Amino acid sequence: MTTVRDSFHSRIGFVLAAAGSAIGLGNIWGFPTQAANNGGGAFLFVYLIVTLLLALPALYAEIYIGNQAQKNPVSALAEACQDSVPRFGRFAGLFGLMGAILMLSFYTIVAGWMLAHALSPLAGLMGFNDISQWLLSSSTTRSILFTPVFIILGAAIIHQGVHAGIEKWSARLMPILLMMLIGLIIYILQQEGADEGLALYLIPDFSQLSDPKLIIAAMGQAFFSLSIGVGGMMVYGSYMEKGKDIGKLVLSITALDTFIAFLAGLLIIPALFVAQHAGQDVFIDNKLVGEGQLIFQILPALFNTMGDVGAFVAFGFFSLMSIAALTSTISSTEVPVSYLVEDKKMTRSKATLVVSTIVFCASMTLVANFDTLFGAVINWVSTVQLPIMGLFYFIVVGWLWSRGNKLTDKSELSNSRTLWLWGNYLRFICPVLISIVFINVAFN
Ligand code: PHE
Repeated sequence: MTTVRDSFHSRIGFVLAAAGSAIGLGNIWGFPTQAANNGGGAFLFVYLIVTLLLALPALYAEIYIGNQAQKNPVSALAEACQDSVPRFGRFAGLFGLMGAILMLSFYTIVAGWMLAHALSPLAGLMGFNDISQWLLSSSTTRSILFTPVFIILGAAIIHQGVHAGIEKWSARLMPILLMMLIGLIIYILQQEGADEGLALYLIPDFSQLSDPKLIIAAMGQAFFSLSIGVGGMMVYGSYMEKGKDIGKLVLSITALDTFIAFLAGLLIIPALFVAQHAGQDVFIDNKLVGEGQLIFQILPALFNTMGDVGAFVAFGFFSLMSIAALTSTISSTEVPVSYLVEDKKMTRSKATLVVSTIVFCASMTLVANFDTLFGAVINWVSTVQLPIMGLFYFIVVGWLWSRGNKLTDKSELSNSRTLWLWGNYLRFICPVLISIVFINVAFN
């Protein structure tokens, strides 16, 4: 019996789902904090270059493999490497799948914090002040409660399938996200202190460009932000009809993702300066205090100074973060789910349950060993796992995959100059560029 694979019903559906995957905590929080720490406009400049030269081609390769194979990432990579190193292809697919679970193990924790912060002002408005305070406290109990809430939200969407779940929900949630973001920017830019933040963000301090760490940070950020390397984009590519113009789609996704990161910078960096203006310690020696934790201390305190309006702004902001995190979570979850459904013949509901349980156990392991594991897993995923998979995608499309790959097919390449250039760029230049960055990481 052949069953028809579930799929996206329109190009815009695919673009919104892929943009939903790309746009997440990485854009709204990661990008602005990295920019604030690494020379503001200078970081923005390097980020754009790395995105164009490396991340966009890697995203193309990932979506292209999935789209050609029309299979889940493990089978897709095994198929692409069929004639050269079939076992290795499968292994790489499983390695990516592990990356998806690891990514979810920390992402759902942070997403749970966002959700708790979104609910806190509501509890406050209803007069439950103790609960409202507790929702802001960084307690283990809070993580134990809210991480599963988030996992269940993701599972509820995933279990409905690709068209009815992922596509429909992405189309609903993404416009809300954009509107909230723009509304918050308009509000923050009118507050005192915001101009200073705008200046730091938009005027590049080029003296920081010579720092090799800047390029590494920008590359890690670009890969994470475009969701490259865990197979989420590959599986989405496989749910799109074969043979679409992937170049154009990848350009739109990259443009949307980068635009939202840029907008988030317009919100967060001025917000930090508004908070500083209101008397909070935000920067010490030109570095942000508290790194990733900052958002949970500075921003709620800032919203608090705004009185009742602040409660709504806080709700808006943290709901925004929660929505962005939710659409990113579902793409990673779809990787193991599609594998279990297609290769292990499980029903979609059972696969969703199995994967959610595994993610729950993984995230609770992180919660229980927070100090040792949490930062380490984030670091491993963003600086090792994702770029290694990116490198692997380049090698697959450039070298290992022969049949049905127009990027290495001589007759296809001789027909189109653009395709010839693009194919050779992916085959020769990208692997070298990414390796150079890797060598830099290893020796720094
Ligand atoms: N791109 C998402 C973000 O910016 C994170 C993500 C990484 C999602 C890898 C899926 C896969 O937050």
